[in-house]
This record gives sequence, structure tokens and C-alpha cells, in this order.
Amino acid sequence: EGQWVLMATGRSPTNIAVIKYWGKRDEALILPVNDSISVTLDPDHLSATTTVAVSPSFPSDRMWLNGKDISLSGGRFQNCLREIRKRARDVEDEKKGIRIKKEDWDKLHVHIASYNNFPTAAGLASSAAGFACLVFTLGKLMNVKEDYGELSSIARQGSGSACRSIYGGFVKWCMGKNNDGSDSIAVQLADEAHWNDLVIIIAVVSSKQKETSSTSGMRDSVETSPLLQYRAQTIVPNRVLKMEEAIKSRNFESFARLTCADSNQFHAVCMDTSPPIFYMNDTSHRIISLVEKWNQSEGTPQIAYTFDAGPNAVLIAPNRKNATLLLQKLLYCFPPQHNDLSSYMVGDKSILSD
Ligand code: PMV
Repeated sequence: EGQWVLMATGRSPTNIAVIKYWGKRDEALILPVNDSISVTLDPDHLSATTTVAVSPSFPSDRMWLNGKDISLSGGRFQNCLREIRKRARDVEDEKKGIRIKKEDWDKLHVHIASYNNFPTAAGLASSAAGFACLVFTLGKLMNVKEDYGELSSIARQGSGSACRSIYGGFVKWCMGKNNDGSDSIAVQLADEAHWNDLVIIIAVVSSKQKETSSTSGMRDSVETSPLLQYRAQTIVPNRVLKMEEAIKSRNFESFARLTCADSNQFHAVCMDTSPPIFYMNDTSHRIISLVEKWNQSEGTPQIAYTFDAGPNAVLIAPNRKNATLLLQKLLYCFPPQHNDLSSYMVGDKSILSD
């Protein structure tokens, strides 16, 4: 038994919800109060790359995020590690002469190194990409044979939104009915090639850490917002059906109306929470006005906008022409010297940052 090391590497992009997940019915298992739908970004932008290694010489499980040692003691990491280890199988690497038996995995420790290919300081959600990638790559290393639905349900226990990053394209997280979470899984609605014309632009309004974490924000909303109950029970089920239809038929008008309405309702729920939560700021509101005015002047949506638990705008254009026009308008309203918002381009998709 020499000092061997076996490794696996994976990459997962983050995803942006167009029908938002907000509120848990079970905090430990991370079971949501409503279905949600998202689009997974392409892996060249905003993705996590994770390498996992196993060796008999490792004395404990360890993790580095962007080169910094981080603790794995949190329940969410432990749940993911446990659930993957449970499903581990025999692994044989003939070239290296390594044989790991199924039952050996419990005694072996892993080292995990994860990198985000976007500025971590940009305040962009990274836990979705991170946990999806961790679960996927550990599964690869340990020869886990479960299907993507099952993997999504494990990633969900790291971070709810992570379950949707297991797939590319358009993805639905079905809330499920069971109390054990076995049917709270993500399914792919359409693959990444389905709606190729869409261009996603992220305007980084502020790179500060958000003040209210999604975990505590959701808890407060579930406990205090009457609008949340109404939204989850009466609004979202209908909206999810319409959104599935809009995606299937590549109907940008319907897609944009639903996306904007759902983002605004999510932020209304935040305001309806006691004490109220403000994720958007003045710049976010000005971006909404800019888009709304443009959409109204054309009589039909030119751009969809959506905001998560922070002030950054995610803007979705139906084609490159509108994406270019949008960038021009944003730079006109927020000139770089204004020091409010400036831009740098990342390949096809753009990121605007301060
Ligand atoms: O998975 P979490 O705990 O980071 O929650 C994500 C919540 C939102 O980003 C606001 C909405 C969503 O569906 O992604």
C-alpha cells in the first residue's frame, strides 16, 4: 500500500431563478414551499471548478475555497459528504494499481479544492455552483451510479438552489410532497441548446456581501409574511405552468413578463417580512425603471430582469441586438466615471461591475 492519490475534477455553472425559490417547509432537509425554475449559465462564466482527492495518507477531510482553507464542519457539507459516501462503490484504477472497496470509503478522507472563475467579491451567488460541483465531483470520484435526480436531491441539502445546477439549460426544482425529501428533486425542462439566442447580462451593482443571508431571510419570511403563503399556494403553481410553456415555445414576451413579475413579487415578500428585508438598492430600482420604460415604449418586452438576494441585476435579452442596445443604455445611464457602475466584457456574456 503506497502513498497513492486518486483525483476527480468537475465544473458546474451557477443558475439564475426566473421563478424564485423563497421559503423552506423543512430547514434541515431544505424542502421548499414552492416549485422554482431557473436557467443554468454556460460554464465559461460564473462556474465552480472542484478537484477532489482521496489518499490513505490524508488524516482528515479538508477543503480549500479559492485557495483558502475553509471548515467542513457545517451541517450542509456534512450532509453532502455523508449522502455521497453512502452511495460510494468499488473503484479500480489499474494503471495506478489502486483498488478501493465500497466499504473502504468510510475510512478514507478527502481533500477538496474549489475555485470560482468569477470574482468572489462580486457578491454573486456562488453556493449553487459550489455545492452542485462538490456533489457531482465526489460522486465521480466515488463511482456513484445514481441518476441526476438523486444527485440533485443531495446537492439540495448543501444549498437549495444548488439542486438546479446539476443540469444545464432550463431546470425545474419540484418541491415534492414527501416529508423525507425523496421527491424534492430537479428535472431538466430543456437543454442548453434549446434557446441559444438568449443573452444574459449581469450588472454588478454592489460587490458587498449581502446583509441578510438567504437562510435567515427565508426563515423570517416564512414566519411573518402573509404574502409568502399566498404566493406559494396561489400564484406560483400557475406561474410555473405558464413559464414551462413559455420556455418550451421560446415565447420571449411571456417569459419576460413572468420573470419580471416573479422577481418583483419575491422582493415584495421580502418587504412584507417583519422586519422588512431590502435586497435591492436605488441603482437596482433605476435599472428596473430603465428596462420598464424601454419595454413600454416598444409595446412588448425587450429585456427581462430578475434580482436575487442582493442588488445585482440579471438581465436577459432575447438576442444579441437587444443585448448590445441594453449595454449602450446601461453605460449611458451609468457612465464608468460616475463610479456607480462600469463594465467589463466576459466573452459573449457581459458583467458590469463597480
Ligand atoms: O439556495 P439559497 O439558499 O442560496 O437560496 C437562493 C434564493 C434565491 O436565489 C433568492 C432564489 C432562487 O431560487 O435561487
